Amino acid sequence: MTAIVQTPAEVDFNALTARFRKLYGAAPDGLWAAPGRVNLIGEHTDYNGGFVLPIALAQHTAVAVRRREDDLVRVASTSMNHDEPITVSLGEVTPGGDYGWASYLVGVGWAARRRGLDVTGIDLALDSNVPVGAGLSSSAAISCGTARAWSDLSGWALDQETVADLGRDAENEIAGAPTGLMDQLASVCGRPAHAMQIDTHAVTIKQIPFDLPAAGLSLLVIDSHTQHTHAGGEYAERRHSCQEAALQLGVHELREVPVADLATTLDKLPPLLRRRARHVITDSARVEEVAALLTSGDDPRRIGSLLNASHASMRDDFEITAPSVDALQEAAVAAGAYGARMTGGGFGGSVIALVDRERSETVAQACVAAAAAGGFATPSVFEGVASGGAARVR
Ligand code: GLA
Repeated sequence: MTAIVQTPAEVDFNALTARFRKLYGAAPDGLWAAPGRVNLIGEHTDYNGGFVLPIALAQHTAVAVRRREDDLVRVASTSMNHDEPITVSLGEVTPGGDYGWASYLVGVGWAARRRGLDVTGIDLALDSNVPVGAGLSSSAAISCGTARAWSDLSGWALDQETVADLGRDAENEIAGAPTGLMDQLASVCGRPAHAMQIDTHAVTIKQIPFDLPAAGLSLLVIDSHTQHTHAGGEYAERRHSCQEAALQLGVHELREVPVADLATTLDKLPPLLRRRARHVITDSARVEEVAALLTSGDDPRRIGSLLNASHASMRDDFEITAPSVDALQEAAVAAGAYGARMTGGGFGGSVIALVDRERSETVAQACVAAAAAGGFATPSVFEGVASGGAARVR
């Protein structure tokens, strides 16, 4: 029987370089790679000033880039079936414009120019092995790889937070996705064998040891292959509810609400907003607990119950899971995972499960069986390994 836990195919840097030459008739100035991410815990907290705890994945988007002297941006993608370059004049890029998937790239140039940086055009070819639509931040991998490359080639000398900011601005303002900053910071600042505890209010990052193989553990990433059709609108709606809850509680951000006496504090809110706020405040607190456990050198298996609690909170209070991901989460835990939860924006996407390495295949099989029993799409499974952030690779 073929293994269910798969090792995703590598991005072929030589093929990407050859593709660039063929498209643009010259060699690229260099190649950069930026990873996707999974968030261990702390979901929908990043636009509430709360904590998140992502890792950067080994799966990445690679971009081959050459700087141009004019204002044109030409981009082509092997992985997104857009093999013919799209050409956009930077000066014409504006919020509300329609650049399709190229928004994530031209938006970076637009955001850099808005910061007063000296921006000329680029030629770019892209390939990626970050699954798209799986809640693993394939778009942040594109925008942050592009931002890192553009900055390095132009000598902007930007720090990591600013590179992440350019990626987020591209996504928020040109691609029209109202995300927080977690995905971009994770893609830029990832470190092998570490998770990042990000305080999204102060925008500070603590690197937390997260070496699962050393503890005989594995983090399975189980892509449900289901995506809620209204995901975009639902995300914006949750964001709006959180703002409304903060307003009614008289705080600037939900982050300011203490976890102690939460029930009493939240009594002031109508039931729906109470549930939304409770998820955000408790999940942010769970990030602090998980980070403290991992930092203390305690057995990482002990974070499992917090992962399960986070899933329940997303399912019952924030209402962002989906029947297929709930089935996968339950199946993983029933098959011996120490904990499992949906990761990312929600309404489908991926589940992560913390398992003993030797039980990886058993847990993966249980997930596939549960999906079949529920009539859901067959999930794909790989091991999530904490890896490095956006960098030049050639
Ligand atoms: C998406 C967004 C992030 C974050 C997560 C939920 O991935 O891009 O900013 O809000 O959803 O935690």
